[in-house]
Amino acid sequence: MLLKMISFMLILICTTIFNAFPTKSDELQTYIVHLSLPEGQEVSQPHKLEELYNSYLSKIASGSNEKPKMVYAYRRVITGFAAKMSNEQAKVMENLGGVLLVSPERSYELHTTHSPRFLGLHQNKGLWKHSHYGKGIIIALLDSGITPGHPSFNDKGIPPPPPRWKGKCEVSGCNNKLIGIRNFVSNDSAIDKEGHGTHTSSTAAGNYVNNASVFEQANGTASGMAPLAHLAMYKVCGDIGCFGSDILAGMDTAIEDGADVISLSLGGMFLHFYDDSIAIGAFTAIKSGIFVSCSAGNSGPGNNSLANEAPWILTVGASKTDRRIRTTVTLGNKKILNGEALYQPKNYRPKFRPLVYPAEMGYSCNRESLKHVDVKGKVVLCDAYFELAGSEMGEAVKEAGGAAMIIANDKRTGNSVAVEVQVLPSSHVGYREGVAIKKYLNSTSAPVATIIQHGTVLNAKSAPMVTAFSSRGPNVASPGIMKPDIVGPGVDILAAWHKSVDNKTGTQATFNIISGTSMSCPHLAGVAALLKSTHPDWSPAAIKSAIMTTASNVSLNGRYIVNERDLPADVFDIGSGHVEVSKANDPGLIFDIQPDDYIPYLCGLKNYTAKQVQVIVKKTVSCSETIPEAQLNYPSFVVELKRCERKEYSRTLTNVGFENSTYTIGDISLPQGVDIKVSSHSQQLSFTALHQKLALRVIFSRDCKDRVNVPYYYNFIVLKSGKYTVRIPYVIMYK
Ligand SMILES: *[C@@H]1O[C@H](CO)[C@@H](O)[C@H](O)[C@H]1NC(C)=O
Ligand SMILES: *[C@@H]1O[C@H](CO)[C@@H](O)[C@H](O)[C@H]1NC(C)=O
Ligand SMILES: *[C@@H]1O[C@H](CO)[C@@H](O)[C@H](O)[C@H]1NC(C)=O
Ligand SMILES: *[C@@H]1O[C@H](CO)[C@@H](O)[C@H](O)[C@H]1NC(C)=O
Ligand SMILES: *[C@@H]1O[C@H](CO)[C@@H](O)[C@H](O)[C@H]1NC(C)=O
Ligand SMILES: *[C@@H]1O[C@H](CO)[C@@H](O)[C@H](O)[C@H]1NC(C)=O
Ligand SMILES: *[C@@H]1O[C@H](CO)[C@@H](O)[C@H](O)[C@H]1NC(C)=O
Ligand SMILES: *[C@@H]1O[C@H](CO)[C@@H](O)[C@H](O)[C@H]1NC(C)=O
Ligand SMILES: *[C@@H]1O[C@H](CO)[C@@H](O)[C@H](O)[C@H]1NC(C)=O
Repeated sequence: MLLKMISFMLILICTTIFNAFPTKSDELQTYIVHLSLPEGQEVSQPHKLEELYNSYLSKIASGSNEKPKMVYAYRRVITGFAAKMSNEQAKVMENLGGVLLVSPERSYELHTTHSPRFLGLHQNKGLWKHSHYGKGIIIALLDSGITPGHPSFNDKGIPPPPPRWKGKCEVSGCNNKLIGIRNFVSNDSAIDKEGHGTHTSSTAAGNYVNNASVFEQANGTASGMAPLAHLAMYKVCGDIGCFGSDILAGMDTAIEDGADVISLSLGGMFLHFYDDSIAIGAFTAIKSGIFVSCSAGNSGPGNNSLANEAPWILTVGASKTDRRIRTTVTLGNKKILNGEALYQPKNYRPKFRPLVYPAEMGYSCNRESLKHVDVKGKVVLCDAYFELAGSEMGEAVKEAGGAAMIIANDKRTGNSVAVEVQVLPSSHVGYREGVAIKKYLNSTSAPVATIIQHGTVLNAKSAPMVTAFSSRGPNVASPGIMKPDIVGPGVDILAAWHKSVDNKTGTQATFNIISGTSMSCPHLAGVAALLKSTHPDWSPAAIKSAIMTTASNVSLNGRYIVNERDLPADVFDIGSGHVEVSKANDPGLIFDIQPDDYIPYLCGLKNYTAKQVQVIVKKTVSCSETIPEAQLNYPSFVVELKRCERKEYSRTLTNVGFENSTYTIGDISLPQGVDIKVSSHSQQLSFTALHQKLALRVIFSRDCKDRVNVPYYYNFIVLKSGKYTVRIPYVIMYK
């Protein structure tokens, strides 16, 4: 079922995203209409705006056609509205004066692997030392709703919201922690029926809850990244997904209400920014100084698989932390292999039992197949197709009489294991372990195995590591901007849940452990809230820069962070690296970007018209000025270079460290056939004041006849001054 559901969702995304006007012409569908108000005609009164929008609708309501219907009259997020119209009516609308763009609303999905039954761990490494626990900061989440009254949303130690807060609660249960609850999904309520929004909210800013655990594993004190910040939920995802018009309405309201940080654990596949409600809404948010964190997507490990690629968004990939819910597999040849399982029943007694591999006989681990295989009392080896597809297999194996189960990854998912709810003793192992088990099976006529339970163990030194599902670059919508930006914890994350998954009774303190970039995104939203609290004057771009230039590519064992294939994770896997919260609080230098700086960048994007740029930036633009993507003041570089080509870019660095500080430019290891020169006005970057800005020039030039046979090369430009290290990743794309 899970597998079926996933493939169904993929089909759904493809059809909704790639057919521009997919419905029959007489059927009403929701379109988003972007308008251009004549210069100087700012409409500030909401009822005047609505009047204007309605006048557009009445212009297209002709003849016997069904009348178009207003869905949302947006106030801030865009100049425009969402309405139900026929294809014909949409075409008429497109040609009306003052209409910039009419696009059918897109559908998006939540970025968990979408089983409410996956289980995981909460990482909590004393990250609050240098911050204010997010006190006074408001984090808005656009998600599947929330569970008011859950202990994670208690308001102990939290002051009332700041006076500027204008939000409201549509259901009861608000307090000083949970200060806003709104629903935008038709025929629904803000209460979370899926658990996803409850989980992401508590990950960003849940308050402390003692003795949180799932199946008695991973227990400890649960808390969000900014435990004293305020939370506001804008429900935009219902039973059948998340729709663009609702997302825009949620953003519109969150911006108006006074949010400081917006977290969106959802996305679609590739979209042009002017056609993407998240990118459009996020741009209005950053214009109001609101930080926007988004999930990178769960479509990895293939390249070009990202969602949420706009440079004004923090795009967050997922890593696995240092906690394991350990079970091991012992084979008859005494070999012991590491695996994981959440369900570790106390009454289980390990003993060697026959090991059987149904796939060897051409059967898989589902109910129907297992009717043809004798698995009674045996340990059953099953192949995993996704990291997280084993719950159904477990039920089938148990029903067929199996005593225990081993799930083995395929090559693609490699070492990426995430735990989930099972109904029998099990161990989910990586690809390499799976191969060892299969070799053993081949080596003997009477294979046996057993599973040993070890409970929750900490300090896995290989952490953090990038997980297979985390979406990868390069960026499709804007190839000159490096994405993802960062990775954070997204595998086996324990956080609040709307109901018990392990039959706990008599408590509202229900938790679940699930995985997805949905889980890493609110971690970074929480981090942004902490930084916003300590640096109220920092822009969203400054906070992003601080998070990115201080990130690390080193794991606990001192080696480079690896990906699912145990290879060093590259910039298309992890962007700048893994988030280092306390370093991000004191980055030394920042790369700042003002909202208007994006205009020449957007105008320079391939095929973008001034109208399309206007849809995003919400002001009249002529596009007389353009810059290459790599010239945006971003803390990373992606540079396409043909033979003999030379490209020069500049960056502006703002000093936020010590008043007097001199940065030296570290040795740059030169890629094949390419020369890179980094220079500043005076060969050294010497600051003499706080907030002083200095320029850096970076010149990339390629030989005329090199023999490069790789698609790209990446490394880092490193600036150092005393305790500060500023890492700037760059990629050369050989063309
Ligand atoms: C609205 O929700 C109720 C309860 O979930 C359901 O029975 C009803 O069919 C829904 N109506 C529409 C129009 O979707
Ligand atoms: C709950 O946590 C508190 C403090 O961490 C501890 O003293 C207590 O023993 C725990 N209770 C249970 C039932 O584990
Ligand atoms: C974990 O759970 C056990 C049993 O409920 C409890 O005794 C222990 O205190 C818990 N540990 C933490 C850190 O809360
Ligand atoms: C993307 O994947 C394809 C196929 O695996 C590979 O040939 C190509 O080099 C990859 N590109 C990048 C930029 O990783
Ligand atoms: C085990 O034997 C089968 C059949 O000969 C073969 O296809 C398979 O590759 C072998 N597996 C391993 C891991 O050696
Ligand atoms: C939870 O309770 C239900 C009903 O009693 C039972 O079928 C199920 O196996 C239980 N699940 C666990 C994990 O104990
Ligand atoms: C990690 O970052 C350092 C710079 O901080 C760089 O020298 C090194 O090549 C990077 N390693 C990988 C595998 O990206
Ligand atoms: C730009 O438009 C041309 C012609 O319509 C098309 O072939 C090309 O793929 C477009 N480029 C991008 C980046 O969308
Ligand atoms: C920074 O340098 C200037 C002159 O170079 C000096 O006047 C000032 O006292 C220095 N500030 C600190 C904090 O060292």
